[in-house]
Amino acid sequence: MGRRRPLLRGEPTAGGVAAETVLRERARDAAPAPARRRGSERRVSAGIDIGAWEDFPDRKLVSVEVGGMELGVCRWGERIFAFRNSCPHEGAPLCAGFLQKRLTASASAAAGEPDVALSVDEESPVVLCPWHRWEFQLEDGAAAAPGFRMRTYRVRREHGRVLLTLGRK
Ligand code: FES
Repeated sequence: MGRRRPLLRGEPTAGGVAAETVLRERARDAAPAPARRRGSERRVSAGIDIGAWEDFPDRKLVSVEVGGMELGVCRWGERIFAFRNSCPHEGAPLCAGFLQKRLTASASAAAGEPDVALSVDEESPVVLCPWHRWEFQLEDGAAAAPGFRMRTYRVRREHGRVLLTLGRK
């Protein structure tokens, strides 16, 4: 089903030529709709603006308050992470802790001798709690200690701003 056109006012003139007012209405009806602006710097999609990208120095822990809640934010190169600034163990302020790359260990027993190899994961930052040195991954909050997880939030860069989404990640 098509859209019904509104009736045009005015009578056609003699000889089958429409009156000037009718022609004006038809021209207005046929004009394309104005184009929508896209990608405006001022337009941001849903999210809480917590500051400019430059407000978060690379590889530093920064605490911000959002709606009465204290969060930690950490930029890691072109990535950015947000988490609750409270350790799930006993509530230490995680932003007072230490930031480092994740270390992983693998063990093997070649020729009867145990062999342990350590490697550094450049792309997986972790925060160490200042009180008991437990380690939490910034990406998903996973802890080295089983049964604990740091609360994380979605955060992204958009038009030079950092936008946070509260709720489950
Ligand atoms: S309070 Fe963070 S590890 Fe104990």
